[in-house]
Amino acid sequence: MLKRLILSVVFALPLYAFSQSQSPSNSNDYLLPSPKADRIILNLSETPLEGIGVNWRTDTSRHVSQLEFAIATAGPEFRENTTHIQAKTETLISQQDEEPIIHANYHQVDLKGLKPGGQYIYRVGSADNWSEWFQFAIPEDDKEVNFLYFGDSQNEVVSMFSRVFREAIINLPKMDFTVYAGDLINHESADFEWGGWFEAGQWIHATTPSMMTPGNHEFSKNPATLTPHWNAQFNLPTNGPKGLEETTYEVNYPELKIISLDGEQIDESPTYRKAQMDWLRTILTNNPRKWTVITFHYPVYATAPDRYHDKMIDYIRPILQEFKVDLAIQGHDHAYARGRAFEENGKLDYEKGTVYVVSVAGPKMYDVKPDKWMTRKAYGTQTYQWINVKDDVLTFKTYTALGKLYDAFEIKKNSNGENTVINHIPNTPERLQSK
Ligand SMILES: [Fe+2]
Repeated sequence: MLKRLILSVVFALPLYAFSQSQSPSNSNDYLLPSPKADRIILNLSETPLEGIGVNWRTDTSRHVSQLEFAIATAGPEFRENTTHIQAKTETLISQQDEEPIIHANYHQVDLKGLKPGGQYIYRVGSADNWSEWFQFAIPEDDKEVNFLYFGDSQNEVVSMFSRVFREAIINLPKMDFTVYAGDLINHESADFEWGGWFEAGQWIHATTPSMMTPGNHEFSKNPATLTPHWNAQFNLPTNGPKGLEETTYEVNYPELKIISLDGEQIDESPTYRKAQMDWLRTILTNNPRKWTVITFHYPVYATAPDRYHDKMIDYIRPILQEFKVDLAIQGHDHAYARGRAFEENGKLDYEKGTVYVVSVAGPKMYDVKPDKWMTRKAYGTQTYQWINVKDDVLTFKTYTALGKLYDAFEIKKNSNGENTVINHIPNTPERLQSK
């Protein structure tokens, strides 16, 4: 292995240099680490009205990196009252195909003691190499939450996902956070693919916090092993089962619990499946929050003609049904579908239970097999989703990459906690190619 790596360095470097001089437009060298921080991202903490996670990257010349933090002001005077926090740093050695080995330092800080409604500002790096200042707001404690949800971005992420992301940011009100339902990239440890994912979101990643659940493309196989990029480059909650840090976790707003499950480990590992089922039951028992949203990569109900996600059906669906989880936002099947199907005595009730959504943000598309559970569906359509949770209503809107409303519904909760779904589907034809 070592020999292979060394050879790849010896021979790949001249080729790499040659390719740069010949076709600079194809070069990935802008994705290599430098002394200046990049891949800067905010992640939700488990209590997002009180704290937030920050993560960034430098080259290994920076063993120490800092975050400078202040309460934001309308003018530049915030710079007179800042705090410096030294990051926790780890080194990640990675490589993509035959490209040179990349050594990078990843730095993380947990910002705590924040206040609802507060506006804050930070930059990362060091005295000779600061990033620009990034500003973020902690939502008011008014029990309203707005967030964005993307299905798989996965392929040609810079080229083809960025327009969807930008359309969402331009068209929608300011979001409190973003959810990614897995398969952010295609090859789990391909450093330049991760660089492309960060590039597609650029400064937005550093100003709007996100939470992501891993997909199968974030894992190497046999046995399923999460890419080391995940824990290095994200700073997500670690409040789930042991061994599933930053993949299985919960985030709690005053009236909204949002949960990430590690779909690949549900599929592949009986041990981690059971750990997640036990943990999920524990956090849903005596759950005081009005709304519960869950994200995982493999959908309970497939949209692709040749797929059936048995582990999700057999092990996860019963828990979602028993504890009346309101909404499941999923990925993997590279299509759009939304609807309900509550299983009782071997029969499905399409007017009851959790609302399931599958969506895709990137360009890879699979056929859709029309099914009774689908209230609205689409083939070959890149979408983004806006979810608003306020009082007794959850409002869900799906937009195409053109910014056109494609699907909309509300979930209304009565005083007994029972949900009614009200459709507001626009009067436009379904985009569908079915087999
Ligand atoms: Fe997938």
